[in-house]
Amino acid sequence: MEKFDKDKCNQLFDEIVRSRHSIRAFKDEKPPKEWIEDIIEAGMLAPYAAAAVGDTIEFRRFFVFERDTISIKTLSSQMKNKAADGVQHFESLIDEKPFMKSKLQPFLNRLEMVVEKGVPGVDTAPYFIIVAELSGIPPAEHESLAHVLENMWLKATALDLGFQLISLTSQMAEEDELMKLLGLPIKKFALNGCAIGYPAITPSATPRPDSLKATRWME
Ligand SMILES: Cc1cc2nc3c(=O)[nH]c(=O)nc-3n(C[C@H](O)[C@H](O)[C@H](O)COP(=O)(O)O)c2cc1C
Repeated sequence: MEKFDKDKCNQLFDEIVRSRHSIRAFKDEKPPKEWIEDIIEAGMLAPYAAAAVGDTIEFRRFFVFERDTISIKTLSSQMKNKAADGVQHFESLIDEKPFMKSKLQPFLNRLEMVVEKGVPGVDTAPYFIIVAELSGIPPAEHESLAHVLENMWLKATALDLGFQLISLTSQMAEEDELMKLLGLPIKKFALNGCAIGYPAITPSATPRPDSLKATRWME
């Protein structure tokens, strides 16, 4: 970092963090593959739970799906089936425990929308990327995935690309068919995923609490 202008770096960092948003509508045009490779490299540089996964260096994998390919269509239908299973599960849970309805209904509504219209991002973005992280002892793979996805998100923002987290992906890790498609052993990896493309709509910033008010300096 010595050779860089530190003030400029600091300013750019703040600018990128502030302009990161969830983008949920993408243009048809595909960003260059090299940019996708750069975003993946940023993800690879994210921290990993070294003590938990041991001395293997095969702890992280990336799978890039492109719009209109057989693989993304297969994935999309597997995810729709998963959402349909979820709908059934939550409907019977609500039948059994009606007092939980108000808590479960919003998630149930989202799952029903996926069953009806497909998974947002997966069906609409030019690229969908699954990240797989090796499970360790103690389990820390989901935390590692969050770091990977955040690095990728910030890099996508720096490239002026839109990025959407698709957290339904994490529930696909125990699906035989998907793990077979990825060529990964079942129950050994956690998954998460994101959609990337040029933003069609850039929303304004979502509200955040005042960080100073949310912070207490302990005596
Ligand atoms: C753990 C986690 C899971 C999320 N899953 C999704 C998702 O599946 N689909 C989606 O569109 N956004 C998802 N988001 C994005 C949040 O909805 C978003 O970050 C929040 O609304 C704030 O908006 P911003 O990202 O534009 O600041 C997720 C965020 C987190 C931290």
